[in-house]
Amino acid sequence: MEKRSIAIGLPSMGIEEWEACKGPIESGWITQGPKVKEFETNFALRHNVKHAFAVSNCTTALHLGLLACGVKEGDEVIVPAFTWVSTANAVKYCGAKPIFVDIDINTFNIDVDKIEEKITDKTTAIIPVHLFGLCSDIDLIRTRFPKLKIVEDGACAAGSALHGKPAGSLGDVGCFSFHPRKSVTTGEGGMLTTNDDEIAVKIDRLRNHGASISEEQRHHGPKPYILSAFEMVGYNYRMTDIQGAIGVIQLAKLDKFIDERDKWAQYYKEQLKDIPWLRTPETPNGYKHGWQSYVTYIDESCAPMKRNDIMEFLQQRGISTRPGTHAVHMLDVYAKMYGIKPQDFPNAFNADQYSMSIPMHNKMVKEDFDYIIDAIKTLS
Ligand SMILES: Cc1ncc(COP(=O)(O)O)c(C=O)c1O
Repeated sequence: MEKRSIAIGLPSMGIEEWEACKGPIESGWITQGPKVKEFETNFALRHNVKHAFAVSNCTTALHLGLLACGVKEGDEVIVPAFTWVSTANAVKYCGAKPIFVDIDINTFNIDVDKIEEKITDKTTAIIPVHLFGLCSDIDLIRTRFPKLKIVEDGACAAGSALHGKPAGSLGDVGCFSFHPRKSVTTGEGGMLTTNDDEIAVKIDRLRNHGASISEEQRHHGPKPYILSAFEMVGYNYRMTDIQGAIGVIQLAKLDKFIDERDKWAQYYKEQLKDIPWLRTPETPNGYKHGWQSYVTYIDESCAPMKRNDIMEFLQQRGISTRPGTHAVHMLDVYAKMYGIKPQDFPNAFNADQYSMSIPMHNKMVKEDFDYIIDAIKTLS
């Protein structure tokens, strides 16, 4: 078989995104403006929430989400031990302490049964992560911990759902990423969602230096001498209108992208089901998976070689793979800061060592999937 080159993820953009950039460029309104507003309105509609606010990326979304929920210095915030580092970093930005909780090795999401033992009188919030596009069980978290503010890390979960409710509508605040590894992208970019009017006002101001009115409102207002009021220390976490314009087009393609990915996820599962050392992802009943990534798990006790050797083998055949993500408690910064050992969170440790993400994006064709499946099968 002829060698192919298959990326782990690729953005799917076309002439529509290209054309959409012209509007802001030609009008000269390129910072947060009408296209960002349109993107927010459409995103809120699609995710069934009252408010959506676009920001510069999901890390800044998490920061603002926590601040808007009142997280402050000295607080403790529950985070899963297996996630992208920025879930924990955002807690640190608020002066709070991330409290790691192990994951369920089958879903890669936080193990809800292990949360209780980590709650103290300083715990004010939790960030359940919808890892790789599979929602965390927010309903159960809400029932068990009604006092905690819930900030969903839905970086990977645009379009995902739990019992028919979209990601971003499940907690107090939802946070999304539009990095190119996500199913819809604006280059860099993020979105916050909420149904809470007070939280909404805070987010809107915090992302724009703490200003009570936006530049656009000021620009179009009748009184040029009036500057915004500033009642809080804010940030410049705005999204540009060029990104907003791209986001409008990408969002309109979201459901098509997820449907395609879902079809190929079934295909991978069916084709790889007889490989005893490779566990493919499960979608529990009641969940709609967004398939940001397709993350498998290698059982090294019966695999023909170690996970890293399998990844190298596939790389030599032009197939990109990655560990699913990392065990944040094992990263130097957090391991040293809090004296945490790898085995303190054994499932996160195992996921870090044995997970393998294989290519999944909307530019792949059947020949790509067959090529990958064939390469994995030659190992068996
Ligand atoms: C789970 C999770 N949270 C947060 C982020 C941060 O997103 P961004 O790169 O948009 O800041 C990512 C990015 O990959 C992620 O996977």
